[in-house]
Amino acid sequence: MNTITIIGTGNMARGIATRALAAGRSVELLNRDADKAAAVAAELSTAASGTVTSGTVGQAPAGDIVVLALPFDAAKEVVASYGAALAGKTVVDITNPVNFETFDSLVVAPGTSAAEEIAALTPGNVVKAFNTTFAGALVAGETQGQILDGFIAGDNADATAAVASLMTDGGMRPLVVGALKRSRELEGFQFLVMTLQANPAFETFNWNTGLKIVG
Ligand SMILES: NC(=O)c1ccc[n+]([C@@H]2O[C@H](COP(=O)([O-])OP(=O)(O)OC[C@H]3O[C@@H](n4cnc5c(N)ncnc54)[C@H](OP(=O)(O)O)[C@@H]3O)[C@@H](O)[C@H]2O)c1
Repeated sequence: MNTITIIGTGNMARGIATRALAAGRSVELLNRDADKAAAVAAELSTAASGTVTSGTVGQAPAGDIVVLALPFDAAKEVVASYGAALAGKTVVDITNPVNFETFDSLVVAPGTSAAEEIAALTPGNVVKAFNTTFAGALVAGETQGQILDGFIAGDNADATAAVASLMTDGGMRPLVVGALKRSRELEGFQFLVMTLQANPAFETFNWNTGLKIVG
């Protein structure tokens, strides 16, 4: 079974780590502050059975899968700084590159995506995944009693299969939607979902909905 390295220790790191531990994977958490990473690792080890190690951003990732649980700008900085150390690894981009100043557009230009911009900066095999599942739902492993759908886009079949297997083993339903360029639609769709959470007309959504294909 593979190890999952998660860079960042915030809300999504906790959610994805919870699913990875449920999947029986070992988890390595990296933060720019080693003490912070160690504290979150200790918390997750207590909450779930499984091995959670920790370290500092910049150290060689132990995992075959490296999840960038970071804001988009930080994700770009971090993959660029890792350089060749990510070659051959599955690099998971979970970002939603929303313009948080206007909350009215993405910060990436039409005809591209955050995932494609990140892929241009790393020799790793970039996969878009987890951007349509909110952190709380990942911790819970469900929304309203429904299994979580996890949309996956990528150009490398082994890398997308590795992320799909992680999701399946972690109690999710993976949906591999196509090449990495399908990230444009995944990012655009999740932006729409995010605007609904912030819309008072849908106040019960409260950042607790899940994007799911029914049928
Ligand atoms: N929250 C959600 O429900 C959700 C859902 C889908 C996708 N996403 C995406 O997931 C990503 C992470 O979101 P989140 O909610 O987990 O954010 P978060 O709770 O704010 O955590 C962000 C993490 O990134 C680290 N970080 C920030 N800037 C950094 C830098 N320059 N270098 C190294 N580390 C840095 C932070 O480190 P410190 O601890 O040191 O501050 C923190 O550990 C975002 O791209 C977001 O769009 C979020």
